[in-house]
Amino acid sequence: MILHKSLFGNNKTMAMAEAHQDYIQEYLDFAIQLAKEAGAIIKAAVDSRMAGTGSSVEVKKNNPTDLVTETDKAVEEFIKNRLNKTYPDHKFIGEETFASGAKTEFTDLPTWIVDPIDGTTNFVHGYPFVAVSIGFTINKIPTIGVVYNPLLDELYSAAKGKGAYLNETKRLPLFHPAPPLIDLGHCLVSTEAGSDRSKAVIDAKISAIHNIVCKKSKEHPFGAEAHSIRTTGSAAINLCHIAKGITDVYWEVGCWEWDVAAAIVIVMESGGLVMEGDHDKTNIERPVNIFSRKYLAIRAAEDRQEQLKVAAQMKDLIPEIDAPRPPVPGGFE
Ligand code: IPD
Ligand code: CA
Repeated sequence: MILHKSLFGNNKTMAMAEAHQDYIQEYLDFAIQLAKEAGAIIKAAVDSRMAGTGSSVEVKKNNPTDLVTETDKAVEEFIKNRLNKTYPDHKFIGEETFASGAKTEFTDLPTWIVDPIDGTTNFVHGYPFVAVSIGFTINKIPTIGVVYNPLLDELYSAAKGKGAYLNETKRLPLFHPAPPLIDLGHCLVSTEAGSDRSKAVIDAKISAIHNIVCKKSKEHPFGAEAHSIRTTGSAAINLCHIAKGITDVYWEVGCWEWDVAAAIVIVMESGGLVMEGDHDKTNIERPVNIFSRKYLAIRAAEDRQEQLKVAAQMKDLIPEIDAPRPPVPGGFE
């Protein structure tokens, strides 16, 4: 499985990447504006329901723990139309477009990867961790990321090589210098139940959480006794918390490329690491496969060796969990 094989692979892709470099700031500004407008639609829907003037959320999906509402669909349509009008040559991958049966094609062409609402369950409950997520790849490389939570008015943005920001002005991470990570025992770890509630998957996740938080003892030699576990209900926001430096580790199996494509750029530009969330230690320093459905992120630290050490400690505790997906033409070998 090689997603990044064309990276610097031939002159044509190099030339395309260079041609787009001149437009990166334009694309970033556009994505920020789009996220703000999409966020306003999401916020208006929550506000009107709270004020008793909005229609109730219509939840439609066959999986009772994987929710979708009319607002998810409306926001994706809004974003897709604006992108089509502004950049008709660019490709689009979106959660609701995928859900409606559209074939996903991931190529070297400029591609927008969009989740209209990440944290749909939170949106339904009014729990304020809800975000629109707009990612952009060139040559399959995550290049721009914008994640906007309109309920807390927090906008995270980054472009490759240009740093990561909160509300466009505050450079991430928030702590200067980034505090030492030391080891997993000193970490605040975020993860999610996810939408696959089969016994095998939930048992494996709970057993991993058990190992992460449990005290090490003779009876339990695997306990890492991490500081604690957090869960926001949004993969994109969990990753942005890594970029902020307010959580240390994020691990999830089962979310999708639209949940993470934007936030991966934000984490990487904050100095964090993102890799595949499996137990394979050989991929720790390789570019993450955004289609892998398994993600592990470590926040920035002054000492890269500490980041690698915590990643390896997590990999020792991560169980084998299957997260299948339909094949992605052009994306996999
Ligand atoms: C979900 C959220 C959640 C994660 C699920 C995702 P959605 O996205 O990111 O944190 O655990 O796996 O599907 O459905 O709210 O867009
Ligand atoms: Ca969604």
